[in-house]
Amino acid sequence: MGLVSAKPMLDKAFKEGYAVGQFNINNLEWTKAILLTAQENNSPVILGVSEGAAKYMTGYKVVADMVKAMIESLNITVPVALHLDHGSYEGAKKAIEAGFSSIMFDGSHYEISENIKLTKDMVQRTKKLGISLEAEVGAIGGEEDGVIGSGEVADPKECKMIADLGVDFLAAGIGNIHGKYPENWAGLNFEVLNEINNITGDIPLVLHGGTGIPADMIKKAISMGVSKINVNTECQLVFAEATRKYVEEGKDLIGKGFDPRKLLAPGTQAIKDVVKVKMELFGSINRA
Ligand code: 13P
Repeated sequence: MGLVSAKPMLDKAFKEGYAVGQFNINNLEWTKAILLTAQENNSPVILGVSEGAAKYMTGYKVVADMVKAMIESLNITVPVALHLDHGSYEGAKKAIEAGFSSIMFDGSHYEISENIKLTKDMVQRTKKLGISLEAEVGAIGGEEDGVIGSGEVADPKECKMIADLGVDFLAAGIGNIHGKYPENWAGLNFEVLNEINNITGDIPLVLHGGTGIPADMIKKAISMGVSKINVNTECQLVFAEATRKYVEEGKDLIGKGFDPRKLLAPGTQAIKDVVKVKMELFGSINRA
C-alpha cells in the first residue's frame, strides 16, 4: 500500500474510541524506526513533517519519495499517511504538489476571518485530490508572571466555524504545549475539550504536544473525541539520550563503533521503543 489519506483511519479511530499517533520524522532513521514499529504492531500511523524538517531533508519531494520508497522496500502494509505539520499556506501548496497524503494548514495565528478564508481555500485544494486536511483554531494564551502554566485554550464557537468548512480533523488548544511541560503546568482543560467535542459533532480532534502528557489524561482525552495525538519531542529526547550513552561508554572508540550504522542504532531502537509504548497507550495496536 502506498501513502493514504488520514481521514479514513481517523474516522475509524473516532468511532471506535482510540487514537492514531502522529510521529514526526527528521531523517531516514526516524522514518525507518516508525514505519517498522507500526508494521510490527499492526497499527495505522501518521508521519508528521514540519516545514523545518522538510527543509532539513532538502525538500518536500525528497521526503515524499523517501517515505514512498521505504514503504515499498520494507513491505509496509499498514496504513501510512504522510502529513505536513503546522503548514503555512505556501508550504501546504508545495507539500500537496510533492505528494503528501495529508496536510495541516495552521492558520491559528491569523484573525479568525482570515483563518476561515484560507482554510476554506485549502479544503477545496485537498478535497479534489483525496488528501486529508487538519486545521487549527485561534487561541487564548495562558501566561502568568511570565510563566506559561497552561497552554492555549481555543474558543469552541471558532472551532465550530472552522469544523463546518469541511476540514477532516481539527486541532484546538486545550492547555497543551509543544515540547516539555513546565513544572507548574495546569493540565489539559477537559471542560473546554468537552464543549468543543459537543459543538463540533463527528469531527475527530487532534491533540498536539503529546510529549509528557500523563497517561490518564491521554485516555480521558481519547474518550472525549481526540483521535490523533502528535508526538515529536519525546522521540528526540530518547534518541539523544541513547546516542549520548553509546558515546559516553566509549563504544564509538571500539572497533568500527564509529560507523554511523552502529552509532545511530541505539537511538533508532529508542525511538522504536517509545513509538510502541505510545501506540499501546493510544490503543491503535491491531487496528490497521
Ligand atoms: P511534542 O514535541 O510536544 O511531542 O509535540 C508534537 C506536536 O504537537 C507536533 O505538531
